[in-house]
Amino acid sequence: MKKDLFGKALLDYHSGNYSEDIITSTNISDEDELPLPYLFRGYSEMPKLEQKALQLAKGKVLDVGCGSGSHSLWLQDKGLKVKAIDYSEGAIQVAKERGVLQAELKPLLEETESFDTILLLMNGTGIFQELSQVSKYLKHLKSLLNPNGQVLIDSSDISYMYEDEDGGMWLDLNQSYPGELDYFLSYKGKEETPMKWLYLDFDTLNTACLTAGLKCEKVIDGEHFDYLARISL
Ligand SMILES: C[S@@+](CC[C@H](N)C(=O)[O-])C[C@H]1O[C@@H](n2cnc3c(N)ncnc32)[C@H](O)[C@@H]1O
Repeated sequence: MKKDLFGKALLDYHSGNYSEDIITSTNISDEDELPLPYLFRGYSEMPKLEQKALQLAKGKVLDVGCGSGSHSLWLQDKGLKVKAIDYSEGAIQVAKERGVLQAELKPLLEETESFDTILLLMNGTGIFQELSQVSKYLKHLKSLLNPNGQVLIDSSDISYMYEDEDGGMWLDLNQSYPGELDYFLSYKGKEETPMKWLYLDFDTLNTACLTAGLKCEKVIDGEHFDYLARISL
């Protein structure tokens, strides 16, 4: 069972009880802090990939895995109609309290409306969890797109994480795809149930899109092996 520590952290920050950051780690990396203020970032603090995605958004928008609702709020202020979904109760409560007009507790695979723009930001491919689920998620996203619709999604090629100090590469041969990570999160001394979190390099995403009958183009590269892609029918 998920403890929704991510949602609890968002709720704490939102209600003025900010004392600690979220701690994350993966099967291939040590502990790292995820500063809570970052999860409430304004447009000027967003990476350029996210700013670009917001600029490209049009029509009726679905913000998948909206977190505290930062992207939804910006688009709403610009006059776009936005629906925000997340499977974290705390996230949805915070998004509503911050002013997201349509925020629903719902996993992506249970969404059924159709949209002109679907946003998946802050390693949007993470939601697919593992390579074997990518085609299922892409087909579902395809079913939610209006005829001229688009999916704007960011991810990274994390092969750099397998480089050792002298530039050599190591790979765990038991691991099927290097972007499939086990992701651990803790907050205020409590540990969340481990999750799977997927990073997809652009070529792998592009191939999966072609197989699902979708077009995929890279919009821009980010500053550290990351990129923004636009998927369309
Ligand atoms: C890395 S956070 C990003 C939050 C927000 N988009 C941002 O950029 O600040 C990922 C979010 O996706 C949500 N999430 C993960 N899997 C999901 C799924 N299958 N359906 C809906 N939300 C999901 C998590 O609860 C979390 O809020």
